[in-house]
Parts: sequence; structure tokens; C-alpha cells
Amino acid sequence: MTALLLPAPAAATPQRSARGRRYLMCPPTYFEVSYAINPWMDLNCAVDVALANRQWEVLRQTYLALGHDVDVITPEPGLPDMVFAANGGLVIEGRAMGARFAYEERHAEGPAYLAWFEGAGLKSVTDAVHVNEGEGDFLVVDDLVLAGTGFRTVPGAHAEVQELFGMPVISLELIDPRFYHLDTALTVLDERTIAYYPGAFSEGSREVLRRLFPDAVIADHEDAAALGLNAVSDGLNVVLSHGAVALMDELRARGYNPIGVDLSELTKAGGSAKCCTLEIRA
Ligand code: ARG
Repeated sequence: MTALLLPAPAAATPQRSARGRRYLMCPPTYFEVSYAINPWMDLNCAVDVALANRQWEVLRQTYLALGHDVDVITPEPGLPDMVFAANGGLVIEGRAMGARFAYEERHAEGPAYLAWFEGAGLKSVTDAVHVNEGEGDFLVVDDLVLAGTGFRTVPGAHAEVQELFGMPVISLELIDPRFYHLDTALTVLDERTIAYYPGAFSEGSREVLRRLFPDAVIADHEDAAALGLNAVSDGLNVVLSHGAVALMDELRARGYNPIGVDLSELTKAGGSAKCCTLEIRA
């Protein structure tokens, strides 16, 4: 009977493990805010391009120090948002689908990234039919693809991804213009865990996320507003905006290793760590 008097054992923190990744990044050589296609972009706010480049380089070095491979695509003049490599496409099992950008200002990035895929020794490269902004709106959780719509990627592209990759695609409706891409409101932490900000999603989509991921990390508005969910996880290490303080604490409590980075200049265009990073899955 004495067992009943013993304190309950503390819930064990799960053991997390990292898996080596291959990322594609694009240096912000020609970065500027010269048009406004999301609420973060303020034409009156000056951008320090030299600082943007230094911050981007710290991000690249962070991945290298974690043991990941980083490929770099050559930036093109006149495409200031090309630094946001996540939007360049979707690559799963060595097969790439190109992006088709919603706004005219970014249209030329589609062919630029497609040309990189063509030369990357992948199994196949497919030009998309429907408007889609790559990993900005498509996030892979094990053998499931979570897909955002509402601002950029159209539902037709969700069906296109399902058909092309033969993976079930879960459509999620984004409702807050500040979180215009899925990767600004939801992070994939590992094969079965996500973190997200419920306020960015329609009621039905929130319910879908609750059903699929009852153990998800729930981020608050402050974390989301710091673009903390625009994070890159290798299963253990989570690289994210240093401003997402509460989220970092929660990740630590869940057994992850959050690594804060300062991407203040790129945030002026509405992007953070994940936006700068496209995963090339073999
Ligand atoms: N200025 C860019 C745009 O509005 C930012 C893209 C951020 N990328 C991302 N994966 N969320 O298109």
C-alpha cells in the first residue's frame, strides 16, 4: 500500500534524434522590399542588405554545423524574394514539383528554381499546372502532406501534389493575412509532431489539426508574430527566430533543442528561417 504514497513519476521527456538533411538556399544578394504582397512588407521601411546577407550566412553556417548539406542556388537580379527558397518547389523522394507563383512580381522565380532542379540529379522534375508556392504551403509529415490555401496556393495544386507524389494531402484553410503561407503558422518537428498557431486557421482546419495531431505544440500569437513557427527542424534541433521565447521554452520541455537565429532584415519581407530553406528529400 505504501506505493500509493509515493509521488507520481515525472513524465519522461521524449528522446529526440536528428536526421541529416539536404537543404537548398539562395543568398539575399538582390534582396529589397520594392513591392508589398503581404502585410509584413512596408515600402517605407529601409532594409539593410549587408546585414541581411550576414544573417543569412549565420543561418547557413548553423545548418552546416549541425551536419546538414546545403546547396546554394545563384540569385537573380530583379528577384528580391528569391532568397525565400522554400517557395521554389516541393521535393519528395527525389522527385521535384516546380512552383507557380501567385503574384506577377515573383513569377520568374518558378523557372529559375526549376532549372536548378533539372541540374540537381533528381529522379524527375515536373512543372506544376496550378498556382502553388512550394514548401511555403506544402509541409511533409512522414507520409502525409499538409497543404495551405487561402492566400497563395490554390486547392487544385493540393490535388496535383496528391496525384504526383501519391501521398495523402490534407487541405488547410489559412484565414489571417499575416500568416499567408502555411509555413508561417505551422512547423513540422518530426515524423509525428507539429507545432502550430490555431488562430491562423479556419475553424474546420483547426478541428482537422486537433484530430490528426492531438499532441501538437500549440504556439501563441506572440510566437507566431515573431515568425517563430517559420522554423526548420531535423527531428532534434529546431532553428527558429530568436524572438519566439515561449515557443523555445516549450520545445525544450518536449525534448527538442531550439536554436534561435536573428533574421530581422528578411522578416521585413515576411520571412524567417524556414522561408529561406527548401528541403531536398532523396
Ligand atoms: N515576400 C515573400 C512573399 O510574400 C515572402 C515569402 C516567405 N516565404 C515563405 N515560405 N513563407 O511571397
